[in-house]
Amino acid sequence: MLAPVWTALEPVLAEALRGASGPVVDVGAGGGHGIRVIAQAIPRAEVFAVEPSPGLRTVLLARVNEDPELRDRVTVLPSDLLQATLPPRLGTLVAMNVIGHLDPTERRTLWRLLAERLLPGGRAVLNLQPPAEPAAVPHTRFSELRIGRRRYEGWGRAEPAGPEQITWHMTYRAFHDGEPAEEVEVEYTWWVLGRDRLKAELAEHGLHVTPTGPTDLGLWCITKSPM
Ligand SMILES: C[S@@+](CC[C@H](N)C(=O)[O-])C[C@H]1O[C@@H](n2cnc3c(N)ncnc32)[C@H](O)[C@@H]1O
Repeated sequence: MLAPVWTALEPVLAEALRGASGPVVDVGAGGGHGIRVIAQAIPRAEVFAVEPSPGLRTVLLARVNEDPELRDRVTVLPSDLLQATLPPRLGTLVAMNVIGHLDPTERRTLWRLLAERLLPGGRAVLNLQPPAEPAAVPHTRFSELRIGRRRYEGWGRAEPAGPEQITWHMTYRAFHDGEPAEEVEVEYTWWVLGRDRLKAELAEHGLHVTPTGPTDLGLWCITKSPM
């Protein structure tokens, strides 16, 4: 259901990764949309795809396995970012549609990891997703697609759940020949983060951040601040 989002993200992420180097970490690689973009944008680099969800990891592994080039240089790590065994030095880290899954403590651990492990000239690319404050988001259909006779819809709403977090309530519906067939509900915590807070947290770790690509996609490029 993230495929339409990736239609817009792909060229912007590819541009943000132009000239980047490996090793590369894709944090929360999901089903692997980002891996394909990364592998094309940074030829020959070794890539570590960190994905804790068994369901999404299955899709990711299948996608990597189908492509001989990805199979040769992508390693799928089945854990959370902070439990993953990563290379001691990193050329690039990508975190698309994932930063709100990390609580403020985990986020700071990520900034520290970047400060300690990014190679000279290295970069991280991530996106911030609204809302930037703990605000309610009305019930909205964010994705729809048809596969054969089935049509799938993804719906979401959110409500504030604390000073820095919201709870997302997602509903996924399947229709067969137009008739309701299945419905799955999921809820999860999302830690909100706006650009001022991002800049302040990164500055504390000697990191510098600049926007990249169209504003509505919310992509940011992080580098070590010049000495
Ligand atoms: C919305 S999906 C984005 C997937 C992919 N990056 C994309 O944009 O297509 C968020 C992903 O983050 C993963 N995730 C959640 N918490 C994580 C953590 N602590 N470390 C690494 N990945 C995490 C989820 O399993 C999920 O695959």
